[in-house]
Amino acid sequence: MINQKWSPESYHHAGSFVPDLASDLLNDLNPKPNEKILDLGCGNGVLTKKILRSTKNVIGIDSSDAMVQAAKKIGIDSYLIDGEAIPFRNVFDAVFSNAALHWIQNQDAVLRGVHQCLKPKGRFVGEFGGHGNISCLIAIIETVMKAKPFSCSFNNPWYFPSTDEFSKKLSAHNFSIQNISLISRPTFLKTDLKDWLKVFTNHIISALPAELIEKFLCEVEKLAKPELFSASNGWVLDYVRLRFRAVKI
Ligand code: BEZ
Repeated sequence: MINQKWSPESYHHAGSFVPDLASDLLNDLNPKPNEKILDLGCGNGVLTKKILRSTKNVIGIDSSDAMVQAAKKIGIDSYLIDGEAIPFRNVFDAVFSNAALHWIQNQDAVLRGVHQCLKPKGRFVGEFGGHGNISCLIAIIETVMKAKPFSCSFNNPWYFPSTDEFSKKLSAHNFSIQNISLISRPTFLKTDLKDWLKVFTNHIISALPAELIEKFLCEVEKLAKPELFSASNGWVLDYVRLRFRAVKI
């Protein structure tokens, strides 16, 4: 798991588009009233709450205690559990996950855990960053980090696989794939890029000397502006989603 700190308030400010853009994924999940569902990486619980409209049996798990507390505050039955160590066995009709899997480094551990916690023929429905996700921004962060005064290398810490690569992983963990696709989703920020960086690249920023943080934010914003900003649309990030639906064999 990437060592990322989440603030529910900053996430609400800079990342509220994440649950807002998940209505197609919720349709893919299609939860039924008596089903028991696990939301893997439930964050602040805003999306989990939408699943609760269909079934009362929803549990959220997240590796951030601050997010688990925020989810509890809006009525979600949520627990501090690492995605690489799901403890449940044969209890859920479906596991749902939005914008969480790319933060998990040990994909074999998470897929093993998801498989074990599902009932036979249970489904795994999810979406996360796919191959090429925020590639323009990653290239810019690499350029900034390589230059003075940072002078260090930057390796993409997130897991953004192709459909082929993730299909192989799902099959190796005994899932039958019903659909899987990459979706290009240019994403309109409601804030400026610095606010987005402070939330979503917090683990990169917090490793910098304090006096260099503002410089990093300014340099990334300066290089990104010609590529990702327009007066008419504001900041638009080059998001690519990998969406899938698979069934436990
Ligand atoms: C995302 O695609 O949701 C994402 C992944 C890593 C950093 C920021 C956003």
